[in-house]
Amino acid sequence: MPTFVVKTFGCQFNELYSASVTEMLERAGYEQSRTLDRVSLVVINTCAVREKAQEKAFSFLGEAATAVDASRIVFMGCSATLDQERAKRIAGHEVHIIPGSAGIEEVLARVQAIAACAPAEPMVPHSLFPTADIELVRGCESYCTYCIVPRARGRETAVDAEVVLRQAKDSIQHGFRELLLLGQNINRYHWSGGGLIELLSALDRLDGEFWFWFLSPHPAYFQRAEVQRLMQLEHVEHHVHLPLQSGSDGILKRMNRRYSMADYDALAGAVRSDSRWTLTTDIIVGFPGETDEDFEATVAAVRRHQFDGVFLAKYSDRPGTPASAMPDKVPQKTIDERHSVLLQVVRDLSLQSNAAMIGGSVDVLVLTAGASGDTFGKSRDGRNVWFEDQGRLSHPVGSFVRVDINHGSREGLYGICST
Ligand code: 5AD
Ligand code: SF4
Repeated sequence: MPTFVVKTFGCQFNELYSASVTEMLERAGYEQSRTLDRVSLVVINTCAVREKAQEKAFSFLGEAATAVDASRIVFMGCSATLDQERAKRIAGHEVHIIPGSAGIEEVLARVQAIAACAPAEPMVPHSLFPTADIELVRGCESYCTYCIVPRARGRETAVDAEVVLRQAKDSIQHGFRELLLLGQNINRYHWSGGGLIELLSALDRLDGEFWFWFLSPHPAYFQRAEVQRLMQLEHVEHHVHLPLQSGSDGILKRMNRRYSMADYDALAGAVRSDSRWTLTTDIIVGFPGETDEDFEATVAAVRRHQFDGVFLAKYSDRPGTPASAMPDKVPQKTIDERHSVLLQVVRDLSLQSNAAMIGGSVDVLVLTAGASGDTFGKSRDGRNVWFEDQGRLSHPVGSFVRVDINHGSREGLYGICST
């Protein structure tokens, strides 16, 4: 039986595409292998957002190239757009390159041809049960100055609302319990019925027991009134991930983020008006030209908003981006120091946010059913939850349960299932 390895780096889009490729290969009779040894096909799905992720993908490519012939390797995703020559130098000219601008249909067709498998009707959905990932917007044209995505993923296109709604409906009918809608800047979604909020409202009217969530909104393209409408929907999860990037207006301008701290505060304030909702964000420290005052403004913004979670990144120079050509780079030592200062603040906030839940109970979607009553899920407001089942049978993946919380850590909540 032919075998394959799929190695994935980076974002939720890559997870979705890799899940789709995996499913297609398995349906065609391929079996997933744990090692590269004598494998028939290796698929490497790459990320270029930060240098570290990119280097890991190239290093894995090197490893794969020592184990199998280049003609059995597929190199796809963002680094496949940006650095094809390097991939060929490492693996050999026969390596199959699928650029990050390719949509899922093209990726599946190319892999199908390479794997020489018979065409199979794609199954909907492709993602990891019980979460169905659904693409809304491909590519990005927001051009934040630090970001390589617009070059790696190409022009922005919105998937037809009809296709999205059909995928959502099929997913729910197949028993999926969470719809995760994806777009690099998802607020750019548009269709004949309006924009993102109108589409989410249409999804919300579908029959069935499900939650939905979306990644990632962009503060410059999100209106306060839209946040308020979103928060009225029945099936929406109670959390918003709203990337701030920096708390300094000067840095936001240089990042080409197109909003001020005051604009952000207005949106965040709408989310914070309901204490059941959580707010998380992305922050970059050490963007070119970031002064001590700029950094202090970011720390102050993080404290002010009491984010429930922060994805904290050190600025990573991406050749070809406008920021890469900016003159006043922050020394690595300063970036590291600022990162560790903010990391402590962020960790304290996460702990505080989770500790505040002790003594209460939360609705949880079961994501993995562990052995000996140790089950893991996600609360409606986006927290990790580990719980025991009070000696009863464990709850299956995809069920909704209620958990009484008796402990909170930086990573999440712990408790006992009461349903
Ligand atoms: N350096 C560091 N972080 C980056 N991100 C995007 N580009 C870079 C970069 N060059 C982060 C942003 C974005 C998240 C997906 O990755 O915070 O929101
Ligand atoms: Fe990159 Fe900005 Fe587009 Fe996000 S919105 S992918 S940070 S350019």
